[in-house]
Amino acid sequence: MAATNGPLRPWPIFLLAFCGACLFIINIILITGVDVKGRVSKIIVRPHKPFHIPPDAINEDSDLPDEIDRHPIVALTRDQLKKFKKHKLSQSSSFSQVIAKYRLKYGRHPPPKFDEWYRFARKRKCANLDDFDQIMDDLRPFYGIPPAEIRAMVRAMDTPKSRVSILRIRSNKVAETLRPDAWRAGIFAKMLGVIAEYLPDLDIAMNYLDEPRVVVPWEELQERLAIEQKNRVQPAETVNEFSKIDWDNATKVEVDPGFFEFSGMNYMDIASKGCPPGSYARRPELDIKRIESTYKDPVGGFIRDFNRSSDLCTMGPTLSNLHGFLFSSSTTVPSQKLIPIFGECKVNVNNDILFPANKYYDPDDTRYAYDPSGDGPWHEKTDQMFWRGVTSGGVQNNATYMNLQRHRFVAMTNGTKLGNDTTYTIMAAISEDNAIGEYTPTYFHPANFAKVATDVAFSEIVWCVPNCDFLADKLSARPGLAFKDSFKYKYLVDIDGHSFSGRWHAFLKSHSMGIKATIFKEWHDQRLFEWVHFAPMDNRFDDLYALLTYFMGLEKGAEGSDGAYVPRHDTEAKRIADRSREWATQVLRKEDVEIYMFRLMLEYARVVDDNRDHIGYSGDGSEVDAEEKDGWWGRKQRRWWSR
Ligand SMILES: *[C@@H]1O[C@H](CO)[C@@H](O)[C@H](O)[C@H]1NC(C)=O
Ligand SMILES: *[C@@H]1O[C@H](CO)[C@@H](O)[C@H](O)[C@H]1NC(C)=O
Ligand SMILES: *[C@@H]1O[C@H](CO)[C@@H](O)[C@H](O)[C@H]1NC(C)=O
Ligand SMILES: *[C@@H]1O[C@H](CO)[C@@H](O)[C@H](O)[C@H]1NC(C)=O
Ligand SMILES: *[C@@H]1O[C@H](CO)[C@@H](O)[C@H](O)[C@H]1NC(C)=O
Repeated sequence: MAATNGPLRPWPIFLLAFCGACLFIINIILITGVDVKGRVSKIIVRPHKPFHIPPDAINEDSDLPDEIDRHPIVALTRDQLKKFKKHKLSQSSSFSQVIAKYRLKYGRHPPPKFDEWYRFARKRKCANLDDFDQIMDDLRPFYGIPPAEIRAMVRAMDTPKSRVSILRIRSNKVAETLRPDAWRAGIFAKMLGVIAEYLPDLDIAMNYLDEPRVVVPWEELQERLAIEQKNRVQPAETVNEFSKIDWDNATKVEVDPGFFEFSGMNYMDIASKGCPPGSYARRPELDIKRIESTYKDPVGGFIRDFNRSSDLCTMGPTLSNLHGFLFSSSTTVPSQKLIPIFGECKVNVNNDILFPANKYYDPDDTRYAYDPSGDGPWHEKTDQMFWRGVTSGGVQNNATYMNLQRHRFVAMTNGTKLGNDTTYTIMAAISEDNAIGEYTPTYFHPANFAKVATDVAFSEIVWCVPNCDFLADKLSARPGLAFKDSFKYKYLVDIDGHSFSGRWHAFLKSHSMGIKATIFKEWHDQRLFEWVHFAPMDNRFDDLYALLTYFMGLEKGAEGSDGAYVPRHDTEAKRIADRSREWATQVLRKEDVEIYMFRLMLEYARVVDDNRDHIGYSGDGSEVDAEEKDGWWGRKQRRWWSR
């Protein structure tokens, strides 16, 4: 055997020598030929399109509904599918690509240990190496403040009044937690534990309230962002290490985190200050219809831009009396100063730093974790929309309850309560046989449909002021179902409580289809696409029946239909369920939470480092990519020699 291999042996050596020579020459050209300083000053941040994607790959639309179907949702799905495919195909596949994109987008070198982050992410089979814009969005303003001041603010938050837990990393370990009794802190510490070995000494302030905390006025934020933009640098030489920071010495600077009590007040009063001067939130005289058309389909009322549907600068005035967080929140303790607080969710004007919610990392929490034992194939599921939850969302008394989002939703799906005179607009087929696939807006009496097509109720009626007696004749609780029993239904709707709902990952991972309305942003938003992975819904729910009749269909002659007919799109619903499941098992895993946390903590550690402009990873990434190739080549070679 060895004899047959013998004559081939010199080849790899020749090849290596040849490549080495090429690399040497390229290096020489690069070193001598490129004016690094000149390049740095000319860096312009623009949307990146550095990698070619074959158009066929995006236009391939085998999982699209029928061409002839002109329902507005079909067109929306087609657009979003293209966006998603493009997004997926444009993900980097090597370290060199990741850092090239990083520098182009953010105008800086990646933070120290970024190479370790990449190895960590690869090991965990990360499918979306570029999906981390949220981290930069959250941290950019802090480049407008000196690092010592940021650290002093963390210190200043170390009081019970601040309602934060402070977690400390010392000597590459999670050393202690101040106010650890807050339930969120335990899981947060667990997440940090996985990556602490890579991190410098850090103090991290974590919000333990449900509600987000920070709203910096728009004008001030723009100043901070301008400083950040002006100070972007990519020095030729950097240290790929964090500095040693003495956090315990940060007490020197006295700062006031500026918290104040705002529970139950009109949140738009402070939120609108965080909005641009030309926005609807600050110019209520603008035409709401025109504003709405920027994110909502003018014909069917379907959400075209889910991100914008929760933008309080656009929608806030319309929603301010329809969402508990905005008009009757039970605990709002905000600050209008730019302070570094890590939180699980926020509204678009908040400056909290998002981290993956604890509920997404705790496999033992049966109220939120996906348990496949309750799930089954699509065709075995009940053809209904299902929801259970408690009466949360804000302070409930006899004057506020009917405007809280969960109460509104339960009321508008209650067939008994709806009665015969309530109507909603749906999109009905224009002709009896639907031969031309055209639809037209039609009034619809949903009372009977709601009885048949929905199973929505509170599981518990609690936390009312002064007590829940006033709800006795208006609501009835249907307790007793475990969370995993939700998966017996085809359509699972997710509605905000005091803040985000925490069920979302489980819904996406299941074989059921998710429907979502929310005003809250979370860490994963950028990786999920409406109409591809879930059906988006307006926070006013005015599109609910148009949505449900599209997916479930409305038979000719059904009670309340007044002769209207909507063809069923069960296959399209199943496709959404399948796509969300497939994608969620790639990008919403426990590992993905760790990958996000790792990158987030590296960025945070850099922005609080006195040396932040001179530390970072300044290489071209080739040595890390070579490791992977070596690994592969080495294995091949070993197998080859041992034949
Ligand atoms: C705290 O910082 C000051 C100035 O940076 C330094 O002079 C002093 O020695 C430090 N104190 C401790 C206890 O490290
Ligand atoms: C609401 O409750 C308050 C006391 O909690 C009572 O005075 C008032 O009459 C009630 N209003 C209605 C409309 O029931
Ligand atoms: C509602 O309409 C149905 C038929 O469409 C009718 O049988 C029923 O009596 C009506 N109920 C009321 C309260 O008007
Ligand atoms: C539906 O409304 C009726 C009348 O308002 C009420 O008695 C019933 O409890 C409600 N059902 C649910 C599930 O809340
Ligand atoms: C949502 O919109 C804002 C403002 O246009 C943008 O900065 C942000 O990146 C968007 N988020 C997502 C997830 O698309």
